[in-house]
Amino acid sequence: MASSSGVLADKVAVVTGAGRGIGAAIAAKLAEMGAVAVLTARTRTTLQATAQSIAHAGGRAEIAECDVMDLHSVERFAQWVEKAFGRIDILVNNAGIGNSGPLHTMPPDQWDAVMNTNLRGVYYCIRSFAPMMIRAGSGEIINISSIAGKTALPNGAAYAASKWGLNGLSYSVAEELRAHNIRVSVVCPGSTNTDFGHQGKNTSKMLQPEDVAHVVTMLATQSPQSFASEVVLRPTQKP
Ligand SMILES: NC(=O)c1ccc[n+]([C@@H]2O[C@H](COP(=O)([O-])OP(=O)(O)OC[C@H]3O[C@@H](n4cnc5c(N)ncnc54)[C@H](OP(=O)(O)O)[C@@H]3O)[C@@H](O)[C@H]2O)c1
Repeated sequence: MASSSGVLADKVAVVTGAGRGIGAAIAAKLAEMGAVAVLTARTRTTLQATAQSIAHAGGRAEIAECDVMDLHSVERFAQWVEKAFGRIDILVNNAGIGNSGPLHTMPPDQWDAVMNTNLRGVYYCIRSFAPMMIRAGSGEIINISSIAGKTALPNGAAYAASKWGLNGLSYSVAEELRAHNIRVSVVCPGSTNTDFGHQGKNTSKMLQPEDVAHVVTMLATQSPQSFASEVVLRPTQKP
């Protein structure tokens, strides 16, 4: 692997849901800081576009398709990462989907999709990548949750439940992996200007994907004795 410069020089950083939005911004920022950004999502074309813009900016990005809802897909992806790079230093579990409408009108398959992406998907990624970090004796796992994981979200009950679950998962796994020198932290952003679906909100007052990326890099560059385990990130003004 060619060596690069920057605070995260030659670190291998896997970002799920990196084809667009917050994940693309996180991957770009980590690459800008010297990491090899390994981008994954289900759609190859958006991954290619994100990787190209990272390369144009002088960063290194690799892509692989993976569906976080599918254990075999995640396991294959983890095996490929181990073979290609021999390590993973940073795992950002960012892939996520929303839902809208009252819970009692929600079809069960939509419930499954929200839970299987936002919660089960993170479990599958930790299950597949944590052993590599344990063997290396270090690692950084950053889960992208939401303020909806800390409060009520009418017409987004399944999404809120998945993110409340993700927060509980994050706090608990942090304790499990602490002894292995692996930090597990969670970022809870408010409304962020992406394709996520924000009907009627003022996009100019929202957080930008780069704001979330900035927090991720703060977490990934802490000193060894420091462990910021949770960041709640709000827009200054209500959108
Ligand atoms: N935007 C907000 O206001 C906001 C606020 C707080 C938290 N968040 C959280 O931030 C994260 C990113 O949100 P975003 O706004 O950037 O969303 P987005 O623009 O819709 O992007 C979501 C990304 O996740 C990928 N993805 C979806 N399902 C996947 C699956 N099964 N396997 C692998 N990749 C999958 C998508 O690519 P493919 O469809 O190609 O797979 C896409 O690259 C989510 O976890 C979301 O809950 C967002």
